[in-house]
Amino acid sequence: MDQEESRNGDFAHYNDHHVSKKPKLNPLHIEPEIRDEFSHHRPGIARINNGSFGSCPKSVLAAQQNWQLKFLQQPDDFYFNTLRKGILHSRTLIKDLVNADDVDEISLVDNATTAAAIVLQQIGRGFGEGKFNGNDTVVMLHCAFQAVKKSIQAYVTRAGGSVIEVQLPFPLISEEEIIREFKKGLEKGKENGKKVRLAIIDHITSMPCVVIPVSKLVKICREEGVEQVFVDAAHAIGSVKIDVKEIGADFYVSNLHKWFFCPPSVAFLYCRKSNVSPDMHHPVVSHEFGNGLPIESAWIGTRDYSAQLLVPSVMEFVSRFEGGIDGIMTRNHEQVLKMGRMLAESWGTNLGSPPELCAGMIMVGLPSRLRVWSEEDALRLREHLRVHFGVEVPIYYQPPKDDSEGHARDKDGVITGYARISYQVYNALEDYEKFMNAINILVDKKKICKMLMTE
Ligand SMILES: Cc1ncc(COP(=O)(O)O)c(C=O)c1O
Repeated sequence: MDQEESRNGDFAHYNDHHVSKKPKLNPLHIEPEIRDEFSHHRPGIARINNGSFGSCPKSVLAAQQNWQLKFLQQPDDFYFNTLRKGILHSRTLIKDLVNADDVDEISLVDNATTAAAIVLQQIGRGFGEGKFNGNDTVVMLHCAFQAVKKSIQAYVTRAGGSVIEVQLPFPLISEEEIIREFKKGLEKGKENGKKVRLAIIDHITSMPCVVIPVSKLVKICREEGVEQVFVDAAHAIGSVKIDVKEIGADFYVSNLHKWFFCPPSVAFLYCRKSNVSPDMHHPVVSHEFGNGLPIESAWIGTRDYSAQLLVPSVMEFVSRFEGGIDGIMTRNHEQVLKMGRMLAESWGTNLGSPPELCAGMIMVGLPSRLRVWSEEDALRLREHLRVHFGVEVPIYYQPPKDDSEGHARDKDGVITGYARISYQVYNALEDYEKFMNAINILVDKKKICKMLMTE
């Protein structure tokens, strides 16, 4: 094997099993051990927002520091003999976890935002280079992540493409509502002989959070002749089971730093081999340009790559829990439902979706008396909860429909504010009780969002 091959790490049998070389650690089902793994979390804060920035246990952080040190000890040797092998090892573990056919289908990138740029730049080139007609479309959900929407603006609409946003109702009663609206969006995308060049489907939407029946929507895309499908599954790995073959999309991205215990920032981008343009490139061009996306992504200039090397350490961490990552997912789902129900009952409100449409996060209606009447109100309440109650939780404003028919209500009026709560292994009942009491205090004191102080 020559040195160049080894540097790129794209050879078949790298077998550095960091996991099995280490002594077996204690099983992590005892609360103090879990507390210790997350003892760097600021004390006194009810951190019920794993969904935004994830979390990383102490043992994985220690492994990261080892990688960083290894680089600094002898950078040349690390670059030529360690880095790419390590990245290949992480990619291989992910490939098995998500049931991809080939490790070359898996690239490690910084985050879902980078993956969106990779996919959308490729689509933008289709418009820019005249391969697509000017008014061909990209179809996406109206609640797609802002960075993804802006990427469409930057790469697709500027190049002449058009966009159809599929409006989803909220609160949701069943997945049929999603399927019905999605089909309508595709019909619109195909009006007047236009072609849908790309559909972007979230696996778990961010705000409001809903688990989307992604396999069913991809199947519909295939039946309707959509050319490519990109699944933005930023929240998926570690919170729902992923089988990329069963889902059947062309591209699928999931952050490893949200629900999979990696530190920021690392995500995997799956590109289905059989049906994908070779014209996929990392937006940061290095000397690896043209060597295939996994290799381009594995070197985007000198920087810290340690987060990409930590998949084996995360596998070791999750193996200490009963049922491994699957056990964690199941328990997080059960717990978030339980906590959501407790809050909704205390406040006399509702949940934003049925249990089967949520994973480790759920939307809980806030009392209408708080008057969350705008996005600014939602942000003010979020800040107030952080500053005055030590609660970290995102708040969502759901504008009332024109006719207030079918809108969720509590005893005082229409519910327009929702909290998105998460449950991760470090959470405990007291986190949610703290939030519950904070809202009850505000309501008892007849506070409305407009009058809340954040300082
Ligand atoms: C659905 C969705 N897509 C994309 C992103 C962007 O992730 P990142 O900031 O890691 O790029 C997020 C972040 O929360 C998200 O929820």
